[in-house]
Amino acid sequence: MEIIRTIKRLDEVVDTARKAGRSIGLVPTMGALHAGHRSLVERARRDNDVVVVSVFVNPTQFNNPDDLRTYPRTEEADCAMLEACGVDYAFVPSVEEVYPEPDNRVFDLGPVAEVMEGAMRPGHFNGVAQIVSKLFAMTRPTRAYFGEKDFQQIAVIRRMVELEGFELEIVPCPIVREADGLALSSRNVRLSAEARAIAPEIRRKLEQSLSLKAEGMTPAQVEKATVEAINSVEGLEAEYYSIVDAITMQPIARWEDAGSEGAVGCATVFCGGVRLIDNIRY
Ligand code: PAF
Repeated sequence: MEIIRTIKRLDEVVDTARKAGRSIGLVPTMGALHAGHRSLVERARRDNDVVVVSVFVNPTQFNNPDDLRTYPRTEEADCAMLEACGVDYAFVPSVEEVYPEPDNRVFDLGPVAEVMEGAMRPGHFNGVAQIVSKLFAMTRPTRAYFGEKDFQQIAVIRRMVELEGFELEIVPCPIVREADGLALSSRNVRLSAEARAIAPEIRRKLEQSLSLKAEGMTPAQVEKATVEAINSVEGLEAEYYSIVDAITMQPIARWEDAGSEGAVGCATVFCGGVRLIDNIRY
């Protein structure tokens, strides 16, 4: 595996691959890699001739400077994992390489980016659109892989792809969980032992909410009951629980209002001060 630090070198290897008619799979990451990332990389490895994984903590998507400062950075271990997974190129640029000057682009991301994470983290999705559009332009991938834990992010990236006219396939990949149900996240390392012990309750409460639907509750009633159930666990505090159409990300009043992909419930929960997200399909 080659570790690439510059856009110039990335461009060379991408050019060579493209000219040889080889498919390119891109897995964008912010590092602190775990088994969830590994599943994306393995999928990319199966699907493509060449696999590029970017490892870059993107400053423009952090609306909280403390979150950016304390975001886990484990480059050496990340590169070892990528090498073991048979990745061809790890793209690990500096902030100056990616943003030689400020990126002032504002994307018209529309309604998918206005709710949930978009409402709670102003500017976050615009920052995601900035970095992912740069990575797509640099890597010119055939396919790009994203985890469904960040369910809304995938909808936002699809919108950005539409706006920018990129020709590639977005491949959503299922959430990978610990044995006790906790969704894998780079932020899990910040959980204290006590917080780690209660964190799987988030998943349990979401699973229990499926039976509330079966009992005849409306989406709004399920949302309210689920927030109450989460908050009843000492140490958990729900920021929101929203049941939305799985494509438009808009809240649904009735279950029948969900389109072809159905409904998804998206939760953001503070667990011992760590902000965790998870979701479940109805
Ligand atoms: O999901 C992430 O880790 C990041 O938002 C992404 C897509 C790598 C962009 O920085």
